[in-house]
Amino acid sequence: MTDKQIDTSTGANSTLPPVTLPADFKGQVKFAVPTDEDMNALATLRSASEPWKARGEAQGESLEALTKLRPFISVAKLGGAVVGYVTIERDGPVPGAAYMRNIVVKQELRQKGMGAVVLEQGLTLARDMNRKTLALRVDPANSPAVSFYRKAGFTTVATVVSKKSGKLRLLMSREL
Ligand SMILES: CC(C)(COP(=O)(O)OP(=O)(O)OC[C@H]1O[C@@H](n2cnc3c(N)ncnc32)[C@H](O)[C@@H]1OP(=O)(O)O)[C@@H](O)C(=O)NCCC(=O)NCCS
Repeated sequence: MTDKQIDTSTGANSTLPPVTLPADFKGQVKFAVPTDEDMNALATLRSASEPWKARGEAQGESLEALTKLRPFISVAKLGGAVVGYVTIERDGPVPGAAYMRNIVVKQELRQKGMGAVVLEQGLTLARDMNRKTLALRVDPANSPAVSFYRKAGFTTVATVVSKKSGKLRLLMSREL
């Protein structure tokens, strides 16, 4: 196997991570609603990712939170393995705008363009909901995420205080 290939021998097990990305991976990422097995993989992914990792969110707590979000989850898979997910809700903090609550890419696959592919799916889902705007909230200290959103055309529309933590969050949005 070369560096450019993905090990698809583990494709049937969505909890096993792919190791490297094929050069033409963008057209090969498939999106689906999560299976029960995917839900566990997504909870593992979320609890190991910022901002939840720094908050000490355990895998079980991630699973509980994701179970509530399950109707809004789109799972990204490559060669049958989970590589990320996005959640899109029709309503959120900005009236009339769809809401992206989570977007996560597997740690070892970040900064290779996978986030942009997963975001594109999020934008498509929001458009399918007949929305013209997509909103999100982000911790200003989460600089990779803030840079990612800015690069994707999101701008800050307000600074809000999180009801849960009392901390400041940027409310960002972009047209669809
Ligand atoms: C945010 C996240 C989804 C981005 O995924 P990704 O696969 O790394 O994103 P991409 O490779 O498609 O990056 C697209 C652009 O975003 C910006 N970007 C992404 N990661 C960055 C980083 N760590 N630092 C600076 N800019 C970054 C860059 O401008 C990049 O474009 P470039 O490659 O031309 O420089 C990923 O970092 C992640 O899963 N983070 C943990 C979860 C999280 O914080 N989610 C957001 C809050 S819910």
